[in-house]
Amino acid sequence: MTTNTKRISLTQFLVEEQRLHNTVSAELRLLIEVVARACKTISHAVGKGALGEVMGSAGSENVQGEVQKKLDVISNEILLEANEWGGHLAAMASEEMETIHLIPNRYPKGEYLMLFDPLDGSSNIDVNVSIGTIFSVLKAPEGMASPTEQDFLQPGTHQVAAGYAVYGPQTVLVLTTGNGVNCFTLDREMGSWVLTQQNIQIPADTREYAINASNARHWYEPVQRYIGELLEGKAGPRGVDFNTRWIASMVADVHRILNRGGIFMYPADAREPDKPGKLRLMYEANPMAFIVEQAGGAATNGPQRIMEIQPTALHQRVAVFLGSKNEVERVTGYHQEA
Ligand code: AHG
Ligand code: MN
Ligand code: MN
Ligand code: MN
Repeated sequence: MTTNTKRISLTQFLVEEQRLHNTVSAELRLLIEVVARACKTISHAVGKGALGEVMGSAGSENVQGEVQKKLDVISNEILLEANEWGGHLAAMASEEMETIHLIPNRYPKGEYLMLFDPLDGSSNIDVNVSIGTIFSVLKAPEGMASPTEQDFLQPGTHQVAAGYAVYGPQTVLVLTTGNGVNCFTLDREMGSWVLTQQNIQIPADTREYAINASNARHWYEPVQRYIGELLEGKAGPRGVDFNTRWIASMVADVHRILNRGGIFMYPADAREPDKPGKLRLMYEANPMAFIVEQAGGAATNGPQRIMEIQPTALHQRVAVFLGSKNEVERVTGYHQEA
């Protein structure tokens, strides 16, 4: 990974990506620029905190059964409005909307489908802890007439781009179009995204793990075994001591892992045997898996590579183990032995 990067803008970076790789069409470049601009607007709203009308509950429930925060709804609206008129999308889907959102007839339709988690880490909004936005881009199926939910149900390997923003001490945008992972920092004075990390690579080994340990009594055997070994530290089979971090904003945990390694886990557990964990495949696990794999890491649901899962529902859950390749391979092995 290079961090002493020549300061170039997101626009220049995308133009050069387009020249270098035929995977970045002019329409995809427009899409990414529009999403990046929407993330700037969301960052501005987040930054207002108690000085704006953005804190607390919206008093409504989403399809997940979660009480929506005002910023969940505001961020969702910002992304919908920003992406409707450009002619780059055929439809959108969101954690905060039960069904897909079609492009209004007054606007041209494009060849891409986009899914997003408009505000990730909502439980951290009111306590000023880093939160973010996650997005995933698919191509619309050839010859698609009017988009349906079925058109979105493509495995993660079909993604043409994915990214996340973290609204933290800095506002950053991490992006992949399938040619590596790059990070842009928002220059608030100029209002522009500046390339600050190129070709991010996740260390293959780590001594840091992320899991919500309050669920330990519900975990299944492979996770009990894996975490049990970590907890034994130097005296146990791993022979070293481990550290833990759990921010409860997936974007912040993944950003830490991208920068210094680690393994992030949200396993399936016995609380809801029919729902494998809390995280959603289409707009949390798949985009993060794409980014992590492009940065040399790995991402599975325990036994299986996340990006090879054939989706069956827009809001389906999936267990997540992602990050430093050697750690993910170890815990994946325990699932495959089980
Ligand atoms: P969201 O706020 O978009 O619903 O996602 C929250 C997710 C994820 O960001 C985080 O890793 C996880 O929920 C935290 O879950 P717990 O609160 O159960 O620890
Ligand atoms: Mn939510
Ligand atoms: Mn989320
Ligand atoms: Mn969310």
